Amino acid sequence: MGFAEQFEKRIMVTGGAGFIGSNLLLYLVPKYPGYLFISLDCLTYAGNLSNLKPIENSSNYRFEKIDLRDFDGLQRSFNRYSVNSVIHLAAESHVDRSIMGPSDFISTNILGTFNLLEAVRKRAGFQRFHHVSTDEVYGSLEESRQATETAPYNPSSPYAASKASADHLVRAYYKTYGFDAVITNCSNNYGPFQFPEKLIPLTIKNAKDGLPIPVYGDGRQIRDWLYVEDHCRAIDLVFHGGKPGETYNISAGNERINLEVIGSVCGIMDEILGGDPREGLITMVKDRPGHDRRYALDSSRIRSELGWSPAVSLEEGLRKTVKWYLENSSWVEECTTGDYRKYYEKMYRDR
Ligand code: NAD
Ligand code: DAU
Repeated sequence: MGFAEQFEKRIMVTGGAGFIGSNLLLYLVPKYPGYLFISLDCLTYAGNLSNLKPIENSSNYRFEKIDLRDFDGLQRSFNRYSVNSVIHLAAESHVDRSIMGPSDFISTNILGTFNLLEAVRKRAGFQRFHHVSTDEVYGSLEESRQATETAPYNPSSPYAASKASADHLVRAYYKTYGFDAVITNCSNNYGPFQFPEKLIPLTIKNAKDGLPIPVYGDGRQIRDWLYVEDHCRAIDLVFHGGKPGETYNISAGNERINLEVIGSVCGIMDEILGGDPREGLITMVKDRPGHDRRYALDSSRIRSELGWSPAVSLEEGLRKTVKWYLENSSWVEECTTGDYRKYYEKMYRDR
């Protein structure tokens, strides 16, 4: 028996060095010593190996620097570790970047998913492909409507369309080739290790540095916020107990307009740091093209079938998140040099 075969499951976690992937591996690796976790990531600007330091020497963890678009590399890694399960998180994930230049979103999110599915479909004894997707595939919803798992797809941005394409491919492979697959579609995550281009960490960073906090359009768009640890517990449950071929929506029921979320973050920072009220830094800027007004998910299936519910309230989650960013300012500094500055300048200069 080789090294990998002594483990009951050999799970490739793609995008393992990103925001959700890091949180997921830090949760799963100590919890399941009988499983081998292979974190596969090509380390784009959003991937950060230092997130995984606490588990890097664990006997049931390995890291592979491979691009999903490199099919041969993928296959070698599947063979090296006799991979029998996948949790697929790797993606280009930022909507604004997809508007500036969609090319990497098409190649990674669509063709990268296709490569993974191709690597999986001929493997004997393959157990489960868990595809992690987004509420953005359902598009913008009117007040009072929530998307169930059977709602029609209506993506707006190149990012959302690329994720929708990937979801369709996973379903098609499940129906056509018969290997086990599940899909989860979740709402906006927040928490430790999120790259400071996304609303909450960007607000914390700018509020700390005394910089303008950019708010798109009228700031009354609605997102439903999910603390990343609650998401990780949900992935664990669906990976282990989700029905083959099914989709599960994951959301915590924390719908807020953007201005309210920013106000809460500023309030927490004022309390901790003192000084002038940071809400004064809010600066209304030009809207995002094709900006979805509201996302809202009906997550009753995962709650009733698998007994999931969120454990962290939005207020508590925001407090934990602000504290984490303030205590980890060197992490923020390291990922906001060079390329980040160029991106920020290009993104916000003329707004
Ligand atoms: P992220 O941008 O923080 O991390 C993505 C990771 O994927 C990075 O480590 C990056 O290096 C890696 N990656 C990118 N292209 C790759 C490629 N070609 N080959 C190998 N690795 C590659 O993203 P995240 O926020 O952690 O999101 C993870 C997944 O969850 C994504 O599929 C995203 O669509 C989905 N999702 C995220 C949210 C959210 O709020 N963050 C909500 C719903 C769904
Ligand atoms: O809904 C799930 C999605 O959430 C995930 O699939 C995506 O990967 C993730 O990036 C996120 O997309 P959003 O576009 O909703 O997240 P973002 O943090 O970029 O923006 C949240 C809201 O805040 C949105 O309405 C746009 C607004 N915003 C964002 C930024 C970066 C601003 O007003 N100002 C900003 O500077």
